[in-house]
Amino acid sequence: MISFHLNGQRVDADVPPDMPLLWVVRDHFKLKGSKFGCGMGLCGACSMLVDGQSTRTCILPVAAVANRAVTTIEGLADAEQLTTLQQAWIAHSVPQCGYCQSGQLISATALLNSNPAPSDSDIDTAMQGNLCRCGTYPRIKQAIKDAAGQTTKASTTAAQSAAVQTFDPRHAEAKA
Ligand code: FES
Ligand code: FES
Repeated sequence: MISFHLNGQRVDADVPPDMPLLWVVRDHFKLKGSKFGCGMGLCGACSMLVDGQSTRTCILPVAAVANRAVTTIEGLADAEQLTTLQQAWIAHSVPQCGYCQSGQLISATALLNSNPAPSDSDIDTAMQGNLCRCGTYPRIKQAIKDAAGQTTKASTTAAQSAAVQTFDPRHAEAKA
């Protein structure tokens, strides 16, 4: 039996100690937001916060998190109040297929928690382990900078956010 904190709650997992944390979270606790990509610690799709650090959980035995704090994408915010970073993510329409996105948000959250005003180089370094086959890297960087309050185009971002929220494809078709 392995006990740890999962999204703020103490949990007990009756699983083999060498089972990867990713499988414990997905299959035992049924939280499916964290994704399996490479299974080799190379892509970042499975990232979770372990004691605040972005961690590849596809290669992390669950025994390694005994009595530690694990946060998944489901635990970053409650349903009614997204984090500033998540709001910036939406404003910049970051997700495309979405597969890598929970891992991206986890790593970006870890970055801002440890460095509230990251430089471009800090962002590149912190995010380099999270791959995106859809090429959302520029939007990710802008969203992180927005959330850090570094952008000088806050009004543009707000306008983009409003445009995303009000876009209706039926009207677009009617104009075409
Ligand atoms: S699935 Fe864990 S790093 Fe790729
Ligand atoms: S949004 Fe598709 S892999 Fe990143």
